[in-house]
Amino acid sequence: MTEQLQVAVLYGGKSTEHEVSIHSAQTVCEQLLKNARYRVLPIFISREGHWFLQEVCGAATPADQPITPVISPQGSLYLPQRQEFLSPDIYFPVLHGTNGEDGTIQGLLESLDVPYVGCGVLASAMGMDKEVAKILAWKRGIPVLPYKKLSRGIAYDKAALEAWAVQTGLPVFVKPVRLGSSVGVTKVKSTAALHQAIEFALRFDTDVLVEKGVESPQEVFCALLGEGEELLSSQCGELKSLAGEFFDYQAKYITAGGCETRVPADLPKETLAQLRQYSEIIFKALRGSGLARVDFLVGKDGKAWFSEINTIPGLSMTSLYPQLFEASGVSYAQVLERLIELARRNWEQRRSISLERVG
Ligand SMILES: Nc1ncnc2c1ncn2[C@@H]1O[C@H](COP(=O)(O)OP(=O)(O)O)[C@@H](O)[C@H]1O
Ligand SMILES: [Mg+2]
Repeated sequence: MTEQLQVAVLYGGKSTEHEVSIHSAQTVCEQLLKNARYRVLPIFISREGHWFLQEVCGAATPADQPITPVISPQGSLYLPQRQEFLSPDIYFPVLHGTNGEDGTIQGLLESLDVPYVGCGVLASAMGMDKEVAKILAWKRGIPVLPYKKLSRGIAYDKAALEAWAVQTGLPVFVKPVRLGSSVGVTKVKSTAALHQAIEFALRFDTDVLVEKGVESPQEVFCALLGEGEELLSSQCGELKSLAGEFFDYQAKYITAGGCETRVPADLPKETLAQLRQYSEIIFKALRGSGLARVDFLVGKDGKAWFSEINTIPGLSMTSLYPQLFEASGVSYAQVLERLIELARRNWEQRRSISLERVG
């Protein structure tokens, strides 16, 4: 029998997307367990940032055991109750948003010197920052929407911003720079509502974007798997919001039937091919590895804009990422296998780097 791999699935987390992460992780664990090659260690991270080893992936139960990441030659996880160390073969962060998708957990995993799934520190951090991702896309010739950035504690000229919003064309969207799941996002239809929306978004981040709105856009998504020359992009799909005015948290996760997926998206073949190409370009520019989902907004005039990249996209059965690959002939099982293979390969690459000064 081939070697069994122990996969530590990290989920929950200190993030506004805590619950979304639990849903994603439940599916990841279920899918991993279908393959006899994998053993799963579900590790729940509480909202306070405490780690617990669980028997079954889900929200915390009284049977959970505290577990601590440690830099130790005996193993990278310590169970104080059992005074025991564990050394999972692979770590799989299934954490969305802050403290998970933004390079922080990736930095910890690098310090622990363990293989982990997905983008590294830099790609995660750049992908999480909507402005940095936009700058990279723009540098590669990919259209991005005009925006203004504002920061907590720095006064801005209200009249000038209002004038910009009017000139750009209302509505504008106000959003935190580093967040997801539409948390803190407001569609602003009048200049009077602008400043309150900014204040609201600033509750969730220290920086916010005020971005030109696309009127009733088509929201189009492309999933990516792999890296470099071996990068695979899925067909582009679209999601229709059936409930609200835009994809707010409610439409995404709460309203049953709040959205509808269509793969391929209802767009001309050339546009679909171009968005797929854009996705690959952005992922490579970011130095991405493993997985990501790239999101676009397409206007009524057919013009497409890069919106954002998610380096740990939703992975539940109803999430776009698995659906996009399924529709492209790549099963969930194949996605997981590829991600784990890449995690190990990248770890070996990192380890082969010389830390000795020559000469
Ligand atoms: N410039 C925009 N024009 C039109 N709709 C937008 C724009 N920006 C955001 N939205 C709407 O808000 C949703 C969430 O915004 P997004 O930038 O994707 O942030 P998040 O990271 O929270 O998903 C989008 O899916 C879309 O429905
Ligand atoms: Mg989004």
